[in-house]
Amino acid sequence: MPTETLIAPTATSEGIKPEIREFVGTHRRMLIDGQWVNAKSGDSFRVYNPATGEVLGNVAAGDSADVDLAVKAARRAFEHGPWSRMTHGERGKLIWKLADLIEENLEEFAQIESLDNGKPLAVARVADIPLAIDNFRYMSGWATKIEGQTVSLSNLGQDFFAYTLREPVGVVGQIIPWNFPLLMAAWKLGPALTAGCTVVLKPAEQTPLSALRLGELIEKAGFPPGVVNVVTGYGETAGAALAAHPDVDKVAFTGSTEVGKLIVHAAAGNLKKVSLELGGKSPNIVFADADMEMAIQGATNAIYFNHGQCCCAGSRLYVEEKIFDKVVEGVGEKTKNIKVAEGFDPQCGMGPLVSDEQLERVLGFIESGEKEGAKTVIGGHRLGDRGYFVEPTLLTNVRTGMKVVEEEIFGPVVCAMPFKDIDQVATQMNRTAYGLAGGIWTKDVSKAHRMARAMKAGTVWINCYNVFDAALPFGGYKQSGWGREMGREVFELYTQVKSVCLKI
Ligand code: NAI
Ligand code: MG
Repeated sequence: MPTETLIAPTATSEGIKPEIREFVGTHRRMLIDGQWVNAKSGDSFRVYNPATGEVLGNVAAGDSADVDLAVKAARRAFEHGPWSRMTHGERGKLIWKLADLIEENLEEFAQIESLDNGKPLAVARVADIPLAIDNFRYMSGWATKIEGQTVSLSNLGQDFFAYTLREPVGVVGQIIPWNFPLLMAAWKLGPALTAGCTVVLKPAEQTPLSALRLGELIEKAGFPPGVVNVVTGYGETAGAALAAHPDVDKVAFTGSTEVGKLIVHAAAGNLKKVSLELGGKSPNIVFADADMEMAIQGATNAIYFNHGQCCCAGSRLYVEEKIFDKVVEGVGEKTKNIKVAEGFDPQCGMGPLVSDEQLERVLGFIESGEKEGAKTVIGGHRLGDRGYFVEPTLLTNVRTGMKVVEEEIFGPVVCAMPFKDIDQVATQMNRTAYGLAGGIWTKDVSKAHRMARAMKAGTVWINCYNVFDAALPFGGYKQSGWGREMGREVFELYTQVKSVCLKI
């Protein structure tokens, strides 16, 4: 296997722990049935450091043959392995133990994430990794609380006794994106394992490293072989094979709406269950009666957090007419203070975008906006010629129908638009094909709740934005997806109900 991989020396790479240097820089195999294996084909692919564009690591390129082996292992583990006989309490304990192990390795995970994805190390330390830990802990508690019911029958009288069982859905395929690599793995694995399912996880090809490190800790925690399999590979090969596999009972996907639709088609072959967490074009609405400082800071964070690479990014900023100039100026000021730098730079507020593909995509959107008449108040350009850095960008003079207003950019680009009154903005906010999330800034509680009800979105934040908690369900209305992750709702995705009826 290639050994040319390296962590290219950069301004700040001295901070990298030696064990991370080694983990990242050594050819990584994937986890199938408790073994670390290369792809059947022998192929591998490179992962890049988005801060430099240089090769960071090298990973096995799984395809349909490897997916098939992983699904077989997951099926054996589900039907016959020790996992299938474990008590709910034992399962919960294992998941909690995994959370402890991640916590012990928090710095290590944060460094992997920053190197692989480009995000600020400081953000990975306080957001990505702690949220992943919380998610496993929260879910582990449900292991002993997923239960059926006794049912009093409506018309059959006293001669029957009926109850329901809530059982795991079976072998689950999970396909995740690159924006929060470990956290997305946690959102998927936590509830699936809690419910008693077995899993084949396919991380994004841009950021497979933290899922592989997680695989090591899954083994260390003592999960039986085959319960979690991690197959690295491209979407068109490994991902597509998993979505179409006839022995997968359910597929859970987070990524683009375009691929979400492909997953639905692929799943039709065996009618596997499908859940989807897709794109967004979330409205963030500032009323004139809002706390201005809070709203301006909130609107800035809502778009630039994770470089705008959030499905719920507040990318349509609606501001009440009379305070429009003030808010635009305020967001512009805050934006100027964001330091765009390598993730390991302690002052880094925004790192590079994840890949050259995303760089091109985001620059293309800015260009199209400008061509259609948008005014670039701040930003608008690539920074430097190394790595995939883009300036945080604020556009005004934008209108309904423009590409930048309608489509998900998935980068640090916000469109600010004035509105006259609550009725006008209530119509505007629901105009896109998406319905993932939205924000409302006001001191008037009646207005806040009226807007929350009117918004066609799975999550509404009032006087805050991007607030996540393992107990709070998250998912999309309209073309933003099917199903809810997190909270107790997530078990609808990973369990199925059996009715048992007995004649006395
Ligand atoms: P993508 O949807 O292609 O990738 C997400 C995951 O799906 C990856 O693991 C990928 O390998 C897999 N995948 C790709 N094609 C597949 C297929 N045919 N069958 C099964 N799995 C497949 O997203 P991509 O190309 O990385 O980004 C493009 C755009 O998608 C972004 O600009 C953004 O707008 C959106 N996106 C949205 C995300 C979200 O959290 N909602 C996350 C990532 C991207
Ligand atoms: Mg793609």
